[in-house]
Amino acid sequence: MKKVITYGSFDLFHEGHYRLLQRAKALGDYLIVGVTTESYDRQRGKLNVVDSLLTRMENVKKSGFADEVIIEESAGQKFNDIKKYNIDIFTVGSDWVGTFDYLKDYCEVVYLERTKDISSTMLREQNEHIQRMGIIGCGRIANRFMMEIKSVSGINAQGVYNPHKESAERFATKYNTNAYSDIDAFYEEVDCVYIASPHETHYSYIKESLNRGKHVLCEKPMCLSKAQTEEVFDLAKSKGLILFEGIKTAYCPGFDKLLGIAASGHIGAIRNIEACFTKLENKNNRELTDKKYGGSFTELGSYVCLPALKLFGTEYDNLRFDSILDENGIDQFTRATMTFPHGMATITCGLGVKSEGRLLISGTKGYIVAEAPWWKTTYFETHYEDAGRVEKYSEGFLGDGLRYEISDFLYAIHGSDKHTFKLTRSESIVISEIMEKFLEDRK
Ligand code: CTP
Repeated sequence: MKKVITYGSFDLFHEGHYRLLQRAKALGDYLIVGVTTESYDRQRGKLNVVDSLLTRMENVKKSGFADEVIIEESAGQKFNDIKKYNIDIFTVGSDWVGTFDYLKDYCEVVYLERTKDISSTMLREQNEHIQRMGIIGCGRIANRFMMEIKSVSGINAQGVYNPHKESAERFATKYNTNAYSDIDAFYEEVDCVYIASPHETHYSYIKESLNRGKHVLCEKPMCLSKAQTEEVFDLAKSKGLILFEGIKTAYCPGFDKLLGIAASGHIGAIRNIEACFTKLENKNNRELTDKKYGGSFTELGSYVCLPALKLFGTEYDNLRFDSILDENGIDQFTRATMTFPHGMATITCGLGVKSEGRLLISGTKGYIVAEAPWWKTTYFETHYEDAGRVEKYSEGFLGDGLRYEISDFLYAIHGSDKHTFKLTRSESIVISEIMEKFLEDRK
């Protein structure tokens, strides 16, 4: 019996998929089809798959060609499956020519001609109007954002707004997009906005964007007071619009995995969290010259607060800050200590002091450690009393990682709430409250 195997996402099952499976089956007697899990798709940069794994597997079964449907969870699986299932022929569409030649040592590899003019990407884009995203601000993060948005299908950068015409034009030329210095013209041509302007301007831009009916993805820190953050979330709700705070760590697959392991009892009950993030910044940059809103905590505090709020919840008992200030009264280094009903957290961040940037989560049975840059989580370990027992976990993190929050934002715009737990309204509100207390203390 000749056994054939093929793999794919099979999202929004279409004629191209049907024809591929039909020809794959005709290559032998028994066809196994591997359908990718959502987390594997995200890992390999395939964002915005619409159908659930179950639906995609059902659709493959319904085609009538598959004798067996399995799930594909990781990159190395194909090689193992070929051995495990005793495969004679591996096949995929011609868009993959060459990619799987390395399997030729183990079985025959056949690339089948791809069906023209149809793809899941095309269907996703037809079904849902492509979101035109406007970018407010042209700083360093906006530059990274322009690269990242290209990797998410269903959303395009429409242009950049900056009240300073030359800055907008310079940025727009660099990224071959539109420049707007007239805010009305800008809002006229966008469906949603990404706010990457200085911290203290976020609140008014969020309000204005929501009032004009635009969904908002705002860079962290969203607002610098609890009342403001509550107000903008209420406004978004009343208008039926999406409002997301862009703390990239919250949306990245590795951090999600780490939280899952931490919360699953592997290390027992969590009692202590230490999170540190330092980045030596040029003294002339906004972060170290803006006397009112600059400094390490407003810049990096959102990241370090995140693990504690995710694992201990948003109800803390005590919060205390200690900072090293420079001659302008800007914090170069800040340590915040927090106590919660069942644990405590020490979070540190610095722009003028370098430290070991790691995340350490201690529990009653063991601990989790993720080294810098844990805020772009790709690797972590769990350790126990028995020093010889170490479990290692890794996860992909593509590009600058902003693509994950963009993709989740887009899911939310299309009515799916399956990713909104990653950073909730109450978590964003508490982070603003912490920022507010910090700025109050620093005065
Ligand atoms: N395929 C095909 N003809 C098409 C589309 C897909 O033969 N028009 C094949 C692919 O080459 C692959 C399998 O179907 O072997 C599953 O592809 P998948 O990536 O799930 O489908 P796409 O439509 O290519 O998805 P996307 O647009 O998301 O990349």
